[in-house]
This record gives sequence, structure tokens and C-alpha cells, in this order.
Amino acid sequence: MQVYDGAVDRGLEGVIACTTGISSIVDATLCYRGYTIEQLAENSSFEETVFLLWNDRLPTKGELEEFKSTIGKEAALESDLIAALKNLPTNVHPMAWLRTAVSTMGLWDVDADADATDEDANRRKAIRLTSKMGTLVAAYARIRDGKEVVSPKPDKSTAWNFLYMLKGEEPSEEMVKVFDTCLILHADHELNCSAFSARVVASSLSDMHSAIVSGIGALKGPLHGGANEQVMRTLKEVGSEDNIIPWLETALAEKRKIMGFGHRVYKNGDPRAKILRSISKEMTEKSSEPQWFKMSTILDKEMEERKGLLPNVDFYSASVYYSMGIPLDMFTPIFATSRVSGWIAHILEQYSNNRIYRPRGQWVGKTNQKYVPISERS
Ligand code: COA
Repeated sequence: MQVYDGAVDRGLEGVIACTTGISSIVDATLCYRGYTIEQLAENSSFEETVFLLWNDRLPTKGELEEFKSTIGKEAALESDLIAALKNLPTNVHPMAWLRTAVSTMGLWDVDADADATDEDANRRKAIRLTSKMGTLVAAYARIRDGKEVVSPKPDKSTAWNFLYMLKGEEPSEEMVKVFDTCLILHADHELNCSAFSARVVASSLSDMHSAIVSGIGALKGPLHGGANEQVMRTLKEVGSEDNIIPWLETALAEKRKIMGFGHRVYKNGDPRAKILRSISKEMTEKSSEPQWFKMSTILDKEMEERKGLLPNVDFYSASVYYSMGIPLDMFTPIFATSRVSGWIAHILEQYSNNRIYRPRGQWVGKTNQKYVPISERS
């Protein structure tokens, strides 16, 4: 395939594709609806953050209670959906499975036939998709391991339920708190690749499930959400502190991308990585494998010195999840469990002020071709 290096806007760098009031990135400051990520990570809960993303304001105490209760009640999967999911192959990446599972779930959705601009139906779908995403991810892990699917508890949070359904045992308060913070940190991120995909699909006035499935497809890639799993695989491949420098020298000489580093927008550091770095330190020290944090910090320092690249959200989240005993291939599905809320905020925003996305391509191909019948081609 020919690459046209001269083509304008490769990767749409710096291009403003739409106006948005959901999350903003200014230098190294990330805000959801005007609140810094640091404030939200410190004080909020995932459910409150989702309410904020969807409503452009923090909830009152009563509204939050009601919202949490609705999310909790909607988290369970219908038994006929579980039966259908059990027929899907599990020898595939969980993100491929999740993409199909969400699409399958859309067939059961009671508002499946609703018009894409029906605000009430979209709010109901939004709740169901957000509540059930973690349930689907945990169900995959259980089905793959030949275990019974664990039902969520309606009075528990998304973070509590996810850990409970994944492991089949009640999580500690500390684990829930850490996981909840991770969900907050991953909930939205301006016009990233998956949010943009979801908006493009929504802009044709297609339905919310279709837009979310496109978001999952985009997130799956290693240049986007798939990087967190690859970070842990990298750390394992490196193996020990002593091997970091030789490994890195070889990898950079081979022009390999080092997963978890670099960012299209942040050039002075990703604020989420700073928060996750301190969580990783704390969690790995408490686990039996503190070396993953130590190795991460050395790699972090070497990457900055050698390439001027800083860690992004995926770098330290890898050792956080690993220290919690979460399987590596669950890392990106966990990202989706949180990011579904941001995709929905973008889809709702798109529907509210829609015009179909239809950019142009700059023509760099051949011209004036003359059709030759197949019998005359050599
Ligand atoms: N490791 C090694 N080199 C990297 C790098 C990384 N993680 N990220 C960027 N670079 C280098 C590129 O090789 C390129 O060098 P060159 O100009 O000599 O060819 C330069 O930095 C610019 O990179 P580019 O890929 O064009 O940046 P981008 O803005 O298109 O991509 C990312 C941004 C995040 C996709 C990119 O940094 C990356 O692939 N990172 C690793 C994957 C990752 O962690 N993704 C999660 C993002 S939150």
C-alpha cells in the first residue's frame, strides 16, 4: 500500500472536529465539565462522575442516590442474553468478544427500535449500557474459565460489583476505592479515537449501541486502549530491573513503540498518569510483587531522557491492575467499562446538535485511467 506522506492532516493532528462541553485538555490539565481530574479522583465516585458527564452538573444527594440505585438495578444480564453469550467463542481477545456481546445485547434492548433522537429512550439505553458493560466483561472471564457467571448485587457500586463478579468473592474496601478511582480516571478524554468513532456513527443518526460498538472497536487497538495490556506484557518481557536498559536500547534501535508512552495532545505529561503512578506505588508495595512499580519508574525515567516521551494513562494503570490480581487481557475491557460513559456523553452531545460527519479526502491517486477489458490485460 502506497503511503502519501505529503497528505494533509495525517491523523487529524490539531484539527478541531467539533465543539464539545464534556471534557477539556489544556496543557497538562484535564477537566470533566470544568472539574479537574484531580478533584474528581480525590472526592468523587464513578457513578457521580457519570452523572456529571451526562448532565453537565454534579448531582444533589438525592439525585446521586437514585442514580446509583438505577445503575445497580440495571447491572444484571437477562438469562436469555447470558445463554446467547455462552454460545460465543471465548478463544478470542475479550475486546473482540465484548464488541460482539454489546452488539448482541442491543438486539435484546427494549428500546432497540426507538428513534436515535428519542432523548428518553437514549437515557434509558445509556443507563443499561453503562450498568451492564462491567457485567459483560466479568461474564466473559467467568465463561472462559468454565465458571458460573456471578450476578451483580443491585445495592453495590460499579467498582464493587466488577471485582466481585470477576473474582467471585467480595472485594475489600481498599480495592473498591482504587478501582473506582481508575474508573473515574478513564471515563472521558475529549475527542480521542474511540469517542470520535462513536460520534461519527451517531452523526448518521444510527443507534446508540452501534455507536458504542464502534467505540469498543477503536479502543481495542494497541495505539489506544489496548496499550495498557501491552504495557504489562512489556514489563514481563523485560523481566527484571537489570534488563531494562539493554531491552530498551534494542527496542528503540528496532524503532519499536514503547507502550504506555507518548500522547498526541499532552506534551508536558498526562495528569492521569501522575495519579496512577502514586496508586501503583502503594498497591505494588502491598502486593508480593513490588518490582513492577520499580521497573516502571526506571523505564519512565529512561524514556524521558532518551526520547523525551512521558507516560500516558495506560502506563501505570497496568501495574495497578496487575497488583490487584486482574488478568492482563481484562485491562482494556476495564477501560471500556469506564469509557462507555464518556462515549455516551459524546453520543448525546452529537445527537443534540447533529450534522452528519462527511469530510473530504485530498485526492492523490491516479487520474485519466482508461478501462482495459480483462481479456486484454497481461
Ligand atoms: N515509543 C517510541 N517512540 C514513540 C512513542 C513510543 N511510545 N510514541 C511516539 N514515538 C515517536 C514516534 O516513533 C515518532 O518518531 P519519529 O518522528 O522519529 O518517527 C514520534 O515519536 C511521534 O510519534 P507519533 O506516533 O507520530 O505520535 P502520534 O501523536 O501519532 O501518536 C501515540 C500518539 C499515543 C499513538 C503514540 O505516542 C504511541 O503509539 N504510543 C504508544 C501507544 C500508547 O501508549 N497508546 C496509548 C495512548 S493514551
